[in-house]
Amino acid sequence: MTSSEGARSGDERPVLTNRQGHPVYDNQNQRTVGPRGPATLENYQFLEKMSHFDRERVPERVVHARGTTSFGFFETYGTWGDEPISAFTRAALLRETGGRTDVAVRFSTVIGGRDSSESARDPRGFAVKFYTEDGNWDLVGNNLAVFFIRDAIKFPDLIHAFKPDPVTFRQEAGRIFDFVSQMPESLHMIVNLFGPRGIPADYRHMQGFGVNTYRWVNERGETRLVKYHWMPRQGVRSMTAEDAARVQAHDLGHATRDLYEAITRGDFPEWELLVQVMSDDEHPELDFDPLDDTKVWPENDFPALPVGRLVLNRTVSDNFAENEQISFGTGVLVDGLDFSEDKMLVGRTFSYSDTQRYRVGPNYLQLPVNQARNAKVRTNQRDAPMAYHVDRAGENPHVNYEPSITGGLREAASSMPGEYGPVISGRLTRSRIPRTNDYKQPGQRYRLMEEWERDDLVENLTTALSECVRPVAERMVWHLLLIEDDLGLRVGEGVGITPGDVGRLDPLPGQNLTEEDRLRLANLG
Ligand code: HEM
Repeated sequence: MTSSEGARSGDERPVLTNRQGHPVYDNQNQRTVGPRGPATLENYQFLEKMSHFDRERVPERVVHARGTTSFGFFETYGTWGDEPISAFTRAALLRETGGRTDVAVRFSTVIGGRDSSESARDPRGFAVKFYTEDGNWDLVGNNLAVFFIRDAIKFPDLIHAFKPDPVTFRQEAGRIFDFVSQMPESLHMIVNLFGPRGIPADYRHMQGFGVNTYRWVNERGETRLVKYHWMPRQGVRSMTAEDAARVQAHDLGHATRDLYEAITRGDFPEWELLVQVMSDDEHPELDFDPLDDTKVWPENDFPALPVGRLVLNRTVSDNFAENEQISFGTGVLVDGLDFSEDKMLVGRTFSYSDTQRYRVGPNYLQLPVNQARNAKVRTNQRDAPMAYHVDRAGENPHVNYEPSITGGLREAASSMPGEYGPVISGRLTRSRIPRTNDYKQPGQRYRLMEEWERDDLVENLTTALSECVRPVAERMVWHLLLIEDDLGLRVGEGVGITPGDVGRLDPLPGQNLTEEDRLRLANLG
């Protein structure tokens, strides 16, 4: 077809142009010397088209590459329990009963690449961006309440062990459990991940958890420790390995499709946000550290009370602009919602914006999906690749610094001068927290499971450990026996390892065992 054939008379469609606004007269043929070539180098339209295509991909996320984004709103109840929420936090978005805030939510898997299967056994990401009038707040959570590690310095090791082998490029149970068997803090997560909750049925039927411990601050400067939980109104549904294999056989993106179709037909999914609150201290009376993200806070002592609801009612209009480039981070907090000293949070807070400056570019916060669209943004930051507007300073465009007596921006007046939160002192050190208690909560979780869930966990662990070398499988059975006899005996039987076989193993170097752990260990030998 030639260009003249393409331009039919009476065709009202808009004309194709290049990025310079030049009309494209022929989108079928390059410019060549004669019909059979060769091509010429001054072929601007062809070179622009091809070189832009060559650069279409940004690096995929180093974790959580496969995901989907939707939009909607968060509505606050204005209370926590019987009290106004302002007694606990001065965060404006939570204060007015019925007040609504725009949100973007990205659900994801963790390990697989951008086009990988959504029915993998893998944690699911549950990241929420609140576009509040005080600026953005990101709550970057997962579908499981705890995490594998408690110190951010182990994150690259954890992810390397779970990602494909650097030589064979296959995810290998042998590598995963080689790492896990040396990291007993990961066992609570493993008991969750290898049970049915490790494969959520889809994104609409899963919970979300902030996992890390955050801090709330009220008008009086009083602080409390908090944990966030999302509960789906649709209920929680999970898949067994066989269910997942059936889904995966014909659809790698069933969870994205399910969410997209539900929103498109007006069946808007909804979650309730619940918060656990703890006084802001070390809680020596507890047998775990409140800043340890491998632990849950017992709900009998620390009730999870509702503070609002989240509704998703719009799908992305463009996957790349709104899902690939959306950028969340744990440092994105508004007044009244703060960090804690949780050793994971500080590492996460560095890592997110660091990777986004690389993945999307240093001006990633100028992109529409990432902008603090309901707040006023005025900075003295300028330039850098792909700057497409200037954060307007004051009236005087010459002043992009502070302080100045000729214009420019001033500091905000703080509603509460002075600092808040606990006074912390200690020697600079590299050491693990004292209350590790790695076996008790996995045991409680196992005992709380329904029988079919326990069966599923045993079967999945047995399958995985069968693929491991004997010393790794032995150490894992040793851990499982310390968690709960029934779990260790059943998995041990599945892989041909008895308590007698592992009774001779010493605790891992530096391992903190509780009195109860020691008793169990003595019984093994
Ligand atoms: C994504 C680092 C722990 C939830 C990411 C990304 C990085 C990262 C680099 C990619 C971000 C991007 O490219 O935009 C870390 C580090 C951790 C950690 C260093 C530990 C020290 C966790 C934990 C959770 C979590 C404990 C759950 C509570 C997520 C989610 C995403 C993500 C949901 C995807 C965000 C999105 O959809 O764009 N993490 N992470 N991460 N992480 Fe973490």
